[in-house]
Parts: sequence; C-alpha cells; structure tokens
Amino acid sequence: MSARLKVSSMSGTSAGRFPERRLVAIYPGSFDPLTNGHLDMIARGSRLADHLIVAILRNTQKQPLFSLEERFEMIDAATSTLTNIEVDSFEGLLVEYAARKSANAILRGIRAVSDYEAELQMALLNRRMRPETETVFLMAAEEYSFISSRIIKEIVTLGGDVSQFVPASVAARLRAKFSR
Ligand code: PNS
Repeated sequence: MSARLKVSSMSGTSAGRFPERRLVAIYPGSFDPLTNGHLDMIARGSRLADHLIVAILRNTQKQPLFSLEERFEMIDAATSTLTNIEVDSFEGLLVEYAARKSANAILRGIRAVSDYEAELQMALLNRRMRPETETVFLMAAEEYSFISSRIIKEIVTLGGDVSQFVPASVAARLRAKFSR
C-alpha cells in the first residue's frame, strides 16, 4: 500500500479540505490583431481555467488598426471550438472589470525577458489594487515567442506575408486592409 493510501485510510476522506473552487480567468489584451501566440495562450488558458474570458481593451486614447467589432469577430471565429471561452471587451481599470466578472485570475504571457519588467509592474499594481485577483503567467510557446501584433502590422505594411503567424481569417483581413 502506498503512503498516500495509508494516510487516507487512517483519516477517512480528505475531500472536505479541498472545497470546490472555480477558476475564472481573464486574458486581457489589445488583440490588434489576434496572433497565433495569443491563440496558443487562449488554448492553454482554457485548459487551466474553468471559464476563460478573453477581454479586449477598449482604449479611447489609441487608434487601433481593427475596430472593436472586427477584433471581437476574429477572436470569436478562431476560438469557436473551445467551449469555456467568453469573448468580451472592457474599458478602464482591469481590476475593476475583474471584480465585475468575479474573476480570480488574470492570465498573461511572457515571451522573453524583455516582457518581464512591464508585466511585473502591471501584476504588482493590479495585486495592490485587488489582491483577490492573482496574475498567472504562462511562458509563450517557443515557436511564437517572437511574434507580436505590432510586428505583424509592420510586416504587412511593408508588403510581407504573415500567414504563418496569425490565424487564416486574420491574415485575410490584414490583406484586405492593406490591398486598398
Ligand atoms: O495586449 P496588451 O496591449 O499588452 O494589453 C495590455 C493590457 C490591456 C493588459 C493593459 O494595458 C491593461 O490592463 N489596461 C487596462 C487599464 C489598466 O488597468 N491599467 C493599469 C494596469 S497596472
């Protein structure tokens, strides 16, 4: 008999020590546009969380390439096979949105050391403002660690092909935008 089985047979069930807890996570971002790196994070986040909210920032200070509706449609289409995903948008403080959604985690990806400083600052500030919501970092998959929405837009602007870096529907929309 293993030590683990022995302990549980001596003390009866230990189920009471593990109360049911749902992990509701928010994966926030600008998603302008969605990349394969984001998609990998969403797929992995959806396996970790009971419910994953992909939350698009509505930033009135910045002029995005894609409208909120376009970004919503691209994420919605690319995640249609995942059943525990909600696509939403938010404005203002992320922690206030997290409180409204009763989220207990914020999911962020780290691609390289260069991401760390800004992410650490955001995570610490968010924790100070709302300790109930923990930031959880996932390391980006190696094959996507060099992709960013900004660099994708730059490549497309310069006439390059980004079809290996973004979902097919995003590549098509980028082509349509820049072929005008
Ligand atoms: O995809 P991005 O641009 O890296 O995402 C950044 C995002 C949306 C996570 C961040 O800018 C954010 O949370 N903005 C909401 C405003 C806010 O809460 N700011 C304080 C964070 S410390």
